[in-house]
Amino acid sequence: MRHAWLCIGLIVFGCEGKAPPDQPTTDGSLAVDAPGDGGSDVTTAKVSGKVLDYFTGDPLAATAITTVGLQPELATTTAADGTYSFEVAVGSKLFATSTRNNFLNTRNATTVVAQLPVIENLYALASGDVGRQFATANVTAVSGTILIAELQNDLGDPLAGILPAAITLVDGNGALVTGVSAPFFMNAADVDPSLTMSTAFGAAPARARVALLNAPPGTYTLKVNYTDANAAAATHTTSVTITAGGATLALSGGLQANSSTAAITDPSFATDIYPRLQKASKGGLGCASCHNLTGAGSVLPYDNTDPAVVLAAIKAAVGVINATTPAMSTFLTKPLFETTPPQNHPNATFLDVNDPNYKLFLLWITLGTKP
Ligand code: HEC
Repeated sequence: MRHAWLCIGLIVFGCEGKAPPDQPTTDGSLAVDAPGDGGSDVTTAKVSGKVLDYFTGDPLAATAITTVGLQPELATTTAADGTYSFEVAVGSKLFATSTRNNFLNTRNATTVVAQLPVIENLYALASGDVGRQFATANVTAVSGTILIAELQNDLGDPLAGILPAAITLVDGNGALVTGVSAPFFMNAADVDPSLTMSTAFGAAPARARVALLNAPPGTYTLKVNYTDANAAAATHTTSVTITAGGATLALSGGLQANSSTAAITDPSFATDIYPRLQKASKGGLGCASCHNLTGAGSVLPYDNTDPAVVLAAIKAAVGVINATTPAMSTFLTKPLFETTPPQNHPNATFLDVNDPNYKLFLLWITLGTKP
């Protein structure tokens, strides 16, 4: 499995562009791309963009970027014009953290690598600018952390009109996180204590943002209650991690929060699970990019054309399905993001247990792994 990752280990030496080519490894063997789809056998996608100063938009040179959510994690540094790039397995969800002198370590909103290259700017928050947010909000820095979430509806438009009481930060037991300030809404530039509800500011794209100050370090769920398009009460949940003295950016809601899995109440392997295990180029979550006969995940191939063969292999492998405690199945725990590093799998497909596909897989196991 080390072979396929050689390129990623060497990203700083310019291994960018398309999926990594076959290349010799240190033990002399060849890292071969998986066979199958002819030329379109994409296993990794390029993630690139610039790191920008969050408040001024200026590109930031010489800024370190590290990932959270991969095994091994990636690291790179921005060029003089602020640009960065790295290669990530398709079907991955991860966080990029920017580190620079006089800036807070900034954990960016989730990067989602579906099938195509991703162009995404990352941000870093300058200490001085963060100090201004505390001063404007008239909040004394205790942990000194700042969480800024962009609020969107399910169509990706700004979610305006949300009251402070509808926004909470809760821990793993659903209890309110203590020490964190009341939510402050932001105008086009900064926190604005005069705003009594979330309000969209700016053009193309307009944003409605909320800031929470002084959250203690930890991984929490940001909950935003809103009224959906059918006038029904709904909640967006977003997993957020606060690091000591750091800044965290998050997206609450948005197009990604949508899912087509809710209607599936009695999933079967052939209809609902097997298609999701396939490569992204075949409409799946990308598992089979690695889980094929010659790929990094050859320990358990998912790409046999007969779903019954794949299901038999899954059931034969020890621990992959845990009928007694379904959530302990490695079928779920391997692709699930580890909030406490290191990751236990090359990539994470499910950020948290709220992921619709995670819930679907869990339901399938709970109901007895129907073929
Ligand atoms: C980037 C490559 C890659 C992708 C994509 C990938 N895996 Fe894996 N997976 C591996 C490797 C390598 C291993 C073996 C090492 C380990 O257990 O982490 C593995 C191990 C596993 C195991 C344990 C197998 C066993 O026999 O113990 C399961 C279960 C698993 N993966 C499920 C999945 C699922 C489900 C997906 C898609 C949602 C997925 N993986 C996507 C590379 C990948």
